[in-house]
Amino acid sequence: MLNGKNVLLAVTGSIAAYKSALIVREFIKKGANVKVVMTNAACDFITPLTLSTLSKNPVFKDFVKDSEKGVWNNHVELGLWADLMIVAPATANSIAKLVSGHADSFLLATYLSARCPVFVAPAMDLDMFKHESTQENLSILTERKVSIIQPEYGELASGLEGEGRLAEPEQIVKAVRDYLLNIATLKDKRILITAGPTHESIDPVRFIGNHSSGKMGFALAKVAAERGASVQLIAGPVVLDTPSGVDRINVTSAKEMFEAVKETFANIDVVIMAAAVADYRVKSPALEKIKKNSSEMELLLEKNEDILLYLGNNKKHQLLIGFALETENEIKNAEKKLISKKLDAIVLNSLKNKGAGFATDTNQISILQKDNKMISFELKHKNDVATDVLDVIEKLL
Ligand code: PMT
Repeated sequence: MLNGKNVLLAVTGSIAAYKSALIVREFIKKGANVKVVMTNAACDFITPLTLSTLSKNPVFKDFVKDSEKGVWNNHVELGLWADLMIVAPATANSIAKLVSGHADSFLLATYLSARCPVFVAPAMDLDMFKHESTQENLSILTERKVSIIQPEYGELASGLEGEGRLAEPEQIVKAVRDYLLNIATLKDKRILITAGPTHESIDPVRFIGNHSSGKMGFALAKVAAERGASVQLIAGPVVLDTPSGVDRINVTSAKEMFEAVKETFANIDVVIMAAAVADYRVKSPALEKIKKNSSEMELLLEKNEDILLYLGNNKKHQLLIGFALETENEIKNAEKKLISKKLDAIVLNSLKNKGAGFATDTNQISILQKDNKMISFELKHKNDVATDVLDVIEKLL
């Protein structure tokens, strides 16, 4: 469950910070990529050098990296990098600041920027832990869907005995794995997702393409992998990082995408075609760069294979989900594609809706199913759109 996941460990100023070295090691052993962010107070208990050596990554502490050169650490990038954020140990003070939304340290600003599941493992003296303020703060975090990893009972740094000891590193990793298992609703499913544009060569330096950035397809791959599916992503030419846990094949043209899809199709349970595949290719691409000798030029195009249509005609057990990008008569056109390509559902997005379609971080969709059911959603981040699409797919499965 943790293999290839980006784990961000946030260490705050408790004597239990020494255990963060063991937490890093446990996650690394499970195949996770670990980065560490610390408060200044945490550095009194364990050095950044120890944690950077164990995590094999630089440790983040301050906003400014090199004041003379004006280089700064980017908390937003770090927050978005994380698939999971674990605050361990979490002091009473840092828990209060997580609740109030303070951003007066790099760690807190990163927490506010993270979109991933967050875990908080408290560590403090028993009376601090029992105090109404701490308990109320933990309840608020729970309401906000932060998972609390309960501290253990035992001898504390003060010499007193009670609840407040940081959970053991193995327990912290187990709590995270249990959470992932719990949300792994697509655990045994193999999902093929296409993303991005295709480029159809005109000559060695030019191509016919479209505006697809791949963001929609990559968001689907990310969310499907988070739900435990085994994800095969077939990507056209895009500049995006592969989401963790996703297997990626790069292609350039529609022909290459078709070949790659055909090769994987037999072993797949669900296909989601989010790619913007070129309908036509140049019949005879020039072998050398075309010179601008005449005032006009004509290109002869021939039809590419319709990949979804082929899949619709050859499917056995597979669930087929298409996308429809429309500019007019949206519902009618999407319905036509749903029926002619023998799809189980089609995701309609229209360029008439601001913030929807190509290259934006957001999309606005309707999902049409073959039983004439249609659900429409408001404009959302593509990660949340992917969640809606996968919720519908889970119901169809
Ligand atoms: O990548 P982004 O910048 O995030 O943008 C996302 C998106 C707008 C590209 C995406 O949301 C989307 O709508 N993808 C499908 C675009 C498209 O090609 O739509 P279409 O209506 O032309 O095609 C209908 C369906 O047939 C699509 O699932 C398409 O993948 C598939 N198709 C099309 C042509 C072809 N030769 N073979 C196909 O399989």
